[in-house]
Amino acid sequence: MSRSAHPAGPRYADVLPEGRSSTGTAPPADLNALDGKVWSRTVHRAPGGAVTVGGIEVTRLAEEFGTPAYFLDEADFRARCRAWADAFGRDADVFYAGKAFLSRALVRWLDEEGLNLDVCSGGELATALDAGMPAERIAFHGNNKSVEEIERAVAAGVGRIVLDSFQEIVRVAHIAQSLGRRQRVLIRVTVGVEAHTHEFIATAHEDQKFGLALAGGQAAEAVRRALRLDGLELAGIHSHIGSQIFDTSGFEVAAHRVVGLLKEVRDEHGVELSEIDLGGGLGIAYTSADDPREPHEIAKALSEIVGRECEAAGLRTPRISVEPGRAIVGPTAFTLYEVGTIKPLDGLRTYVSVDGGMSDNIRTALYDAEYSVALVSRASDAEPMLVRVVGKHCESGDIVVRDAFLPADLAPGDLVAVPATGAYCRSMASNYNHALRPPVVAVRDGGAKVIVRRETEDDLLRLDVG
Ligand code: LLP
Repeated sequence: MSRSAHPAGPRYADVLPEGRSSTGTAPPADLNALDGKVWSRTVHRAPGGAVTVGGIEVTRLAEEFGTPAYFLDEADFRARCRAWADAFGRDADVFYAGKAFLSRALVRWLDEEGLNLDVCSGGELATALDAGMPAERIAFHGNNKSVEEIERAVAAGVGRIVLDSFQEIVRVAHIAQSLGRRQRVLIRVTVGVEAHTHEFIATAHEDQKFGLALAGGQAAEAVRRALRLDGLELAGIHSHIGSQIFDTSGFEVAAHRVVGLLKEVRDEHGVELSEIDLGGGLGIAYTSADDPREPHEIAKALSEIVGRECEAAGLRTPRISVEPGRAIVGPTAFTLYEVGTIKPLDGLRTYVSVDGGMSDNIRTALYDAEYSVALVSRASDAEPMLVRVVGKHCESGDIVVRDAFLPADLAPGDLVAVPATGAYCRSMASNYNHALRPPVVAVRDGGAKVIVRRETEDDLLRLDVG
């Protein structure tokens, strides 16, 4: 039990009653253990030693690729794609939500594993097409798609455009007609349910920029207008209720209300729409406290809900699609940092500064997201020390992991890793303080390859043309 490196660092028992952190998490029994829920599948710790991913030691990865860097476990990513595709089977479609993280290599993996892709901007569309994703397997989202983006999507032949407003119904119809196309579309509706983590609320969430509200008849009116326009082929209804959802009760209410609309449409127009897209938002384990559902459980629950609702409404069961982003890519990557300054604050906690921060993971600052962290360049049997892992930016809110425990012998030069950073970390990375955005390195079967390279100062200066 050595605390010699930072003798003033607070011990957990000194700072919090009953050894509990402010997040309510007690220090883990074994700081060297890696919870398989939180880390990707090929991450292991050599007994008494460093952590490996895809069979490669993190110390070697740090030497070759530098830090900070995201390391993406390709075998795990592919396995998750297959698990989602298998769970939903032939009668449903899985669209990976590219906003979570997108690159050309990743698009090729999706294609190879048989997944479809949801994009929400011209940039994501360009990446998907450039990497060879067949356009008919792409769905295009967004509350304010530009005319140019719509033209590009229609001309490329994307499988679905998800209509988000009355104005867009007309815009897409007009563009499709002028290009001599009939564009397959879904209408995005807001069902009056907003779900986050374990709870969902059923008030006030129509007060948002996305979609057309079911309540008050906007969605039904959108269907009326879309059915009248020659440039559009209305395939179905889309609903997305939130993020980081662990139970299916919110989806149950959403499915009930969407099927209600399908029934209205059948009664009014004599048309049975053939698709329901229930969006994404399925949760992952950021810390050991999170308990996500498996894809097959989600698939079973959603198809039962939709089947039951349709049977009750006397409708043919439509084809279901889902759009998981985080649940596929989130658990497959960790961010590797080198520890720099360590600052023990008596009676409070120890601040551990790493060589990245809010520029590579804005989620803690933006959403109060919780992450875990581990010392990965070596094992340690020092006692737990309560830490806050912070970045190197000029902002006191630059926090990567708010409350965690690391061994008290942590020293500058050690490598720490934050797991479950595959989703919405690189894709939301910024150049704040002219930070250079880290690379994404895919690791698989003893090999590692950069799929998004590290930014350089030349990259920054190239944009600065003044
Ligand atoms: N489909 C639609 C229409 C969406 O709006 C989203 C996410 C998804 C699918 C994918 O959701 P996922 O399965 O990845 O949770 N930046 C935030 C998340 C924003 C999500 C926006 N829409 C974060 O870091 O948590």
